Amino acid sequence: MLRAIYPGSFDPVTYGHYDIIRRSYKIVDELIVGVLNNKAKMPLFSVEERVKMLEEVTGKLPNVRIEPFDGLLVDFASRMEADVVIRGLRAITDFEYELQMSQTNHKLAPNVETMFLTTSIEYSYLSSTTVKEIAAFGGDLSQFVPEAVAVELKKKMHTNAKRRV
Ligand code: PNS
Repeated sequence: MLRAIYPGSFDPVTYGHYDIIRRSYKIVDELIVGVLNNKAKMPLFSVEERVKMLEEVTGKLPNVRIEPFDGLLVDFASRMEADVVIRGLRAITDFEYELQMSQTNHKLAPNVETMFLTTSIEYSYLSSTTVKEIAAFGGDLSQFVPEAVAVELKKKMHTNAKRRV
């Protein structure tokens, strides 16, 4: 039984994240998408909102569940009894951070391995940060995030704009 965790901020989930989820759930028995509840990062969406969007987007995939977490990833992996952490690699710019993270995690928990999947080429440029910027300026989100996420982004931008008035 191979249980894997795909951790991230998912603020919000993009087609790039979804690409990693839909490819990795097939190679493990159970995939837990771990949503970091890190208030220091000042996310646009609350952890509950991010979990809900991921649940909606992954609803049809068997053996995938969404769980929020805080604290260390290795402690979450231990609580979930997961053997593997999955991360997506987009470009060489991701590599240094990912290498440092996987080696630190391996020092903290030698039984937890990190597995990397290279992001499909059509999503190699994509990040939640650029998606939020496009949304903030009212751009077309259809190529970057699932429809349900685009709707939530538009709502959030509308609410934030009203708050500023
Ligand atoms: O989507 P992100 O922001 O690139 O995901 C980063 C994440 C959540 C995987 C990483 O920040 C993380 O694991 N945070 C939990 C804290 C932790 O375990 N830190 C030590 C690893 S170096």
